[in-house]
Amino acid sequence: MKHTDIYDVLNDASYLNASTTVCGWVRTSRDSKNVAFIELNDGTSQKHLQVVLDKEKFVDPSPYLKLGSSLRVVGTIISSQGRNGGVEMAPETIEVLGDCPADYPLQKKRHTLEFLRTIPHLRLRTNTFNAVFHVRSVLAAAIHEYFQSRRFVYVHTPLITASDCEGAGEMFRVTTRPWNASASSEKEYYDADFFGQKAGLSVSGQLEGEMCAMAFGKIYTFGPSFRAEASNTPRHVAEFWHVEPEVAFAELPDVIELVEDMIKNVVSAAMEKCPAELAFFEKNFESGLLDKLHNLVGEKFGVVTYTEAIEILKKADVHFQYPAEWGADLQTEHERYLSEVVFHRPVFVTDYPKEIKSFYMKQNADGKTVAATDLLAPGVGEIIGGSEREADLDKLLTAMKERNMTTEEYEDYIDLRRFGSVPHGGFGLGFERLIMYVTGIDNIRDAILFPRVVNKIF
Ligand code: 4AD
Ligand code: MG
Repeated sequence: MKHTDIYDVLNDASYLNASTTVCGWVRTSRDSKNVAFIELNDGTSQKHLQVVLDKEKFVDPSPYLKLGSSLRVVGTIISSQGRNGGVEMAPETIEVLGDCPADYPLQKKRHTLEFLRTIPHLRLRTNTFNAVFHVRSVLAAAIHEYFQSRRFVYVHTPLITASDCEGAGEMFRVTTRPWNASASSEKEYYDADFFGQKAGLSVSGQLEGEMCAMAFGKIYTFGPSFRAEASNTPRHVAEFWHVEPEVAFAELPDVIELVEDMIKNVVSAAMEKCPAELAFFEKNFESGLLDKLHNLVGEKFGVVTYTEAIEILKKADVHFQYPAEWGADLQTEHERYLSEVVFHRPVFVTDYPKEIKSFYMKQNADGKTVAATDLLAPGVGEIIGGSEREADLDKLLTAMKERNMTTEEYEDYIDLRRFGSVPHGGFGLGFERLIMYVTGIDNIRDAILFPRVVNKIF
């Protein structure tokens, strides 16, 4: 269907005074004595195109004014008569492409995000979700551009896997056996299953990513990860998008440098390419957002060891629901206090106790901590988790033993430490958490198309 994007009509002066065809959905409309107004949106632009119907020409405009209906309009683009300037359209012909009844759930008023979650297929037509998904698209492209321009190889690690990378027991099972299949043991059940062994959805592509880094030097993944975490929080979904770079010959400081450089780069790209969207978020979701992003690009991120962080939290003059204790994982309230109150910017926490981190992390000389880092961001908490990896075969095997892991599932991974092992490291970025940070949206369910969460598939 030949037509022009409303984005182009609004932003390209060459359309002025020209006859143009646009298509879109009626976002709002208003009828008055001599004219009727339609705000038309085709999804390409935050701003709508105002179509002004002269009632001498369109004697009964009512068929064109229904919220949610779709139109094709042929007309002339003229300078707007209204006080906001810009352009509007004087229509010649209007065709209703798809009618929309009055019980259309999206009405003129501003709906709450909670209500919009109940209509995930239609919420995409709101200004908020138009902005979220434009920013999401630009951030995704910027992440690829960042790694591609530095010659990282983009690899597609498997989604179905036999090994639990994080060892946290949060894997979804993949099976084709009927719900009432009988088996006298776990082994018998899985022997008869599709793969002839236990399988699940990957929580992380890191282990395969390390294999690729040991061959291609620098790699990244960008795909979905799955976690059967029963945590019903504003930061967790069961299916999220995960960016996982892995670099050979990299130690923890190199990983930290890469994280900071990447974040600054992709946030700059969003600021450059999504000014209208970010202005929308500043106005409607987080006042101060633009300053926050601007400062982020200009300032060095904070760095603090876990041990120092615990001391800071213990001295803090606030009541935490979970008191900070060396050896315990940081809670969201601790993460947010550190980044929001102490550092006022993203902060790397490094060198966590080995007991609360994964088996693959490089063991520090103190025997107590590992060369890991989490990046904590104001308003969100952890957006990145990464580490240098344990490159020493014996130390890796010991760490697995301490966690009662079966080495059979990880034989290929262990081989990496036998055949030309090198220091290496990487990190995982939760893509939706980055989107939350960049947009000021405070619930992860509003940063992904159709959230999958405990007890619900939207
Ligand atoms: O900290 P995590 O568990 O680290 C890993 O998976 C490593 N294998 C990454 C690596 O070093 N290659 O997860 C990484 C990030 C977290 O910081 C968080 O942003 C995000 O993934 N994440 C989730 N995002 C949304 N919902 C969930 N349930 C998430 N679980 C982790
Ligand atoms: Mg983590």
